[in-house]
Amino acid sequence: MSQFLSNCSVDALATAAHSLQVGSLVAFPTETVYGLGADATNPTAVSRIYEVKGRPTGHPLIVHIADLKYLEQWISDIPEYAITLARKFWPGPMTLILKRSELAKDFITGGQKTVGIRIPDNSLALGLLEAFHNLGGSGIAAPSANRFGQVSPTTAEAVQEELGNYLSDTDLVLDGGQSSVGVESTIIDCTGGLPRILRPGAITIEMIEEVTGLKVSNSPKKKSDEFQLEDIRVSGSLENHYAPKARVFLDQQPVVGSGFIALESIDTPIGAIRLAAPKSVEEFARVMYSALREGDHHNLDSIYIAQPTGDGLAIAIRDRLSRSAKGR
Ligand code: TXA
Ligand code: MG
Repeated sequence: MSQFLSNCSVDALATAAHSLQVGSLVAFPTETVYGLGADATNPTAVSRIYEVKGRPTGHPLIVHIADLKYLEQWISDIPEYAITLARKFWPGPMTLILKRSELAKDFITGGQKTVGIRIPDNSLALGLLEAFHNLGGSGIAAPSANRFGQVSPTTAEAVQEELGNYLSDTDLVLDGGQSSVGVESTIIDCTGGLPRILRPGAITIEMIEEVTGLKVSNSPKKKSDEFQLEDIRVSGSLENHYAPKARVFLDQQPVVGSGFIALESIDTPIGAIRLAAPKSVEEFARVMYSALREGDHHNLDSIYIAQPTGDGLAIAIRDRLSRSAKGR
């Protein structure tokens, strides 16, 4: 069982940074979902992330940093458009895939020549990262703090529910309340001439095209190019992921006794159990993972979801829900 820290003071963050320095794991809030953090330069600590998550090794991890000044040490090259994206959207729900430096070892990148980097927009995460950098740390590797293939946690309680049995006494869970965005960061491959979205999120195609003045690439994969998509393992892109215990059905008429998630404007069908009624697409993203968990708490067999339509964040929501619906 890990220790649970709420109302994190500067002292608590320094304690947590020290835990990372000595090789323990620290789960922490970000604006997207909670992360399970380890010192990104410590292979033993990073291998515990895989153990605790039950994640197959070889999947690359995102390195979190506090500020752009810590980026350079992790990468060997960055295109102009990626600098523009970093300046505009960091701290924020965006991960950039860049050519790695020597510091980004195979145990972080899954043996690929690229590394994923993100500056999260959450005061506790940034406080933890600053405290860790102050101790000489280079960055915190953190996947979402859930067991492999399951629903990402958006509260500290959900982290405890997912990983409590797998964390040890010296690991920590920082409680920063509910994540404000609720779906994982947009992952953008910045190793080609144009940005390419590997995982949709709250930083949308429209936003990327507007600030860079470039078209987001949708060109097919090419075998010859070392950095093309097919060489990149994105576990969040596996078909069955983000799945609760209940079976998820999309845009179908719910059966009696099943859970139901839809925008507030859609009435609850007779006999269904309303799990969430978000007022906007943003709120939909924020509450959808906790609503899926709520369905599992009620031991529901099935959860029916009326998906939000349209572009922007709705694309990320439908991406995750389509994978939830593939089951485990
Ligand atoms: O919002 C987020 O991104 C959260 C918070 C904690 O920051 N993290 C997160 O991590 O979602 P994870 O490991 O659950 O998903 C990250 C995805 C994985 O699918 C991984 O394969 C991909 O990012 N990834 C990491 N490094 C990569 C790289 N060098 N190339 C391609 N994909 C990479
Ligand atoms: Mg994940």
